[in-house]
Amino acid sequence: MSVRIAVGAQWGDEGKGKIIDLLSSGADLVVRYQGGANAGHTVKIDDKKFILHMIPSGVLNKNTVSAIGNGVVFDYDSFISELDILKNAGIRPEGRLFISPYAHVVMPYHKEIDRAVENNRKTKIGTTFKGIGPAYQDKITRCGIRVVDILDKEYFPVVLKSNIDSKNQLFEALYGEKNKFDFNAIYAACLDKFETVKPYVKDVSIMIEEALENKKSILFEGAQGTLLDIDHGTYPFVTSSNTTSGGVCTGTGISPTKIDSVIGVMKAYTTRVGNGPFVTELFDDAGKHLSEKGFEVGATTGRPRRCGYFDALIARYSVRVNGISSLALTKIDVLGGLEKIKVCVGYKYKNEILKEFLPVSNVLEKCVPVYEELDGWQEDISEIKEYNDLPANVKKYIDYIEKITKVPVEIVSVGPERNQSIFK
Ligand code: GDP
Ligand code: IMO
Ligand code: MG
Repeated sequence: MSVRIAVGAQWGDEGKGKIIDLLSSGADLVVRYQGGANAGHTVKIDDKKFILHMIPSGVLNKNTVSAIGNGVVFDYDSFISELDILKNAGIRPEGRLFISPYAHVVMPYHKEIDRAVENNRKTKIGTTFKGIGPAYQDKITRCGIRVVDILDKEYFPVVLKSNIDSKNQLFEALYGEKNKFDFNAIYAACLDKFETVKPYVKDVSIMIEEALENKKSILFEGAQGTLLDIDHGTYPFVTSSNTTSGGVCTGTGISPTKIDSVIGVMKAYTTRVGNGPFVTELFDDAGKHLSEKGFEVGATTGRPRRCGYFDALIARYSVRVNGISSLALTKIDVLGGLEKIKVCVGYKYKNEILKEFLPVSNVLEKCVPVYEELDGWQEDISEIKEYNDLPANVKKYIDYIEKITKVPVEIVSVGPERNQSIFK
């Protein structure tokens, strides 16, 4: 029995989907705790590739129960289209996939508002346009609509009407567009779609309590990454939820005393999609190498991901704010072929050398990386199954990361497939 959290240690897209799928074979319950359909978690099984936005990556393991906690903003369109994808692939999630009645719902107007706000913002965040910010905004300002509210036939039309009236007023005031959102159309479509959602609704906190009582193993699936956290990330270039391990307790209703360990999913280099500071970003051939060999294209938006060297300050920060107890080091195969590999060990800021990461974008924008250099390797490591069979320079790179983070590497991922994983 174990209760673990898998959290993204950088700016998202670290390979959480792959690692969660891998670890889910030893988990009875996999639970998402925050974010929404802005996530794009890729799981490759043989010749099939699944990109999951809403449904936990544990769903591909038929012995695992998956749940979406109250901290997630629930996108029913995404949920329904993923159900179809799973069913077409012969995967039956009925009876082992659940959604908390207390999750807030992303409504169609949230997506429109996301787009309008972003398009009218001077400094663009580069959001995924999935309605995440506006949905969390309604939650925090206490006018949101939860799954349980949509299932309440009397309450839903009242709360929806009030929301649509106020969004229409706001839209007209800000953008001059009248009656942007139509109550009847949204109401009818939503009720219709919730007929599909209804059988999956179940109290996730109670499910977790029962799982704990029955000594089951639970794995919490983080979405996005530490530096996109609303509190600990590179504000304002962040998402609107607590992506870090702390989000698990509020986002699912589990007590912090029940959590045993936190595995940080960390890319062997760094990527970022969307805007904001990125101290080790590369614009040279090494950056091109990472981008091309790593197929660094956003799983949700198809945008190219910005690429850079591994940043030890980010890694240590992530260990600190999440309480990371072990690492899944991913995509280390992608570094193969580089003559030298740099690791950032400090930031030159004005006349100082900073040794600790700080979540202040306007300072980070002015930081210049201070690098140490390690020898690269030329071998293809993607088929290696045993740690000891890895080339010496790969092991040196891993040792180096363990030394600077003071955290052991538990899994070395050398390719996108389940079996391209080495347990150290
Ligand atoms: P997530 O959002 O953290 O789940 O990550 P994404 O799925 O958005 O992006 C990770 C990408 O890298 C996906 O295309 C994965 O199939 C792929 N991937 C995961 N682990 C590895 C690895 O160790 N090596 C390589 N080459 N690709 C990997
Ligand atoms: P996974 O779970 C990478 C980024 C967006 C944007 C910022 C805010 O696949 O790792 P939002 O739509 O959340 O308001 O966008 O956050 N972003 C991600 N980047 N991986 C993700 O998820 C992301 N989810 C959001 O690009 O910069
Ligand atoms: Mg992703």
